[in-house]
Amino acid sequence: MTEIAFRQAEANDRDSILALRARCFPDDDPEKQDPRFWQWEFQRSPAGPGRMFVAESGGRIVTHFAFVPQAYVTDGAARRAVMALDAMTDPDWRGRGVYGRLHAFAIEAVKNEYAFGTAYQIRPKALPPLLRNGWTPRLKAPVLVRPLSWRALAGRAMRRPPSSGELHRTDLINPVALADIARDFFAGRVHQDRTAEFLMWRYSESPIWKYDVVAGQHAFAVTRRTRLRGFDTLALVDVAWRRGCAREAKELMRGILRRAAAAGVEVAAALITVAHPAFSVLLRLGFLPGPHRFLFLLRDFDGSSVAMLDRARWALTWGDTDHL
Ligand SMILES: CC(C)(COP(=O)(O)OP(=O)(O)OC[C@H]1O[C@@H](n2cnc3c(N)ncnc32)[C@H](O)[C@@H]1OP(=O)(O)O)[C@@H](O)C(=O)NCCC(=O)NCCS
Repeated sequence: MTEIAFRQAEANDRDSILALRARCFPDDDPEKQDPRFWQWEFQRSPAGPGRMFVAESGGRIVTHFAFVPQAYVTDGAARRAVMALDAMTDPDWRGRGVYGRLHAFAIEAVKNEYAFGTAYQIRPKALPPLLRNGWTPRLKAPVLVRPLSWRALAGRAMRRPPSSGELHRTDLINPVALADIARDFFAGRVHQDRTAEFLMWRYSESPIWKYDVVAGQHAFAVTRRTRLRGFDTLALVDVAWRRGCAREAKELMRGILRRAAAAGVEVAAALITVAHPAFSVLLRLGFLPGPHRFLFLLRDFDGSSVAMLDRARWALTWGDTDHL
């Protein structure tokens, strides 16, 4: 049997990891093959640098799996967590249990430093190894959708692909004020701490993903124009408002949707959990559950989180994932 070695990866493994990504995801998320994207995602995350793991055979990387640290607030207390991502095995090496073993190795390496792990599963193949490695499905987060421009939808067959032009770009000039709004908004829910540093990193510093951050005095919303399932889409990635200020948030979002429709964007979409305070507001704004769902899974690392994680009201959106 061929010898396989498991180890934590370092920054200088970047190019080999990206070459493996190109073989495993030739048609998915091409921007993630850009070294600048990798640096941003894995080296500059404010909760700490990524923890990447690789399996090697004969000095060649054949499998990769990574965690990106996340800072959560649960029951008012800060908890360090990691998000699982980028599982990939070289096509020539699949079906030999290498990924399953690397995953177990990676959990052993991080489990004393973090309280729990989060994972968002969309691809069917990713589920069995997660279940075998102790992950528990916790909830299904729907992607809500809302048609924006019937004219654009009706004429879509004849049109060119949309430009990547921004609709309404606002610089993230006051992340401290936005972090303050978020703190008020998420109180009582389990949520990823939207500190000023997190907001800057997530919505302003990516070299490739460009967001529109629209803020009022008591509310803000973050969107990104993208193509999802072939549709020119305005993805609502994050939203928050100060308690008692839902009306301001609704107005803000109505304006965003109006401008997007006028720009010919076909649909708006939002990945959002039912416990997120904006879920019902989006329904009132005309969003409906679409056909796609993300399975959210948890892995308790310290043995003390199970009960808390189970009863928690998880307020999650695309901003908490690495998808958009
Ligand atoms: C998903 C992916 C990472 C799995 O990698 P892999 O190294 O083939 O995974 P494993 O070999 O550990 O497991 C694959 C199957 O082989 C089986 N297997 C075969 N021989 C085995 C052995 N000797 N030991 C253990 N499992 C073995 C496993 O039981 C598993 O079956 P299951 O899927 O029914 O549970 C790989 O298919 C891939 O890179 N896909 C493309 C990228 C992708 O979709 N990534 C996931 C989303 S991020």
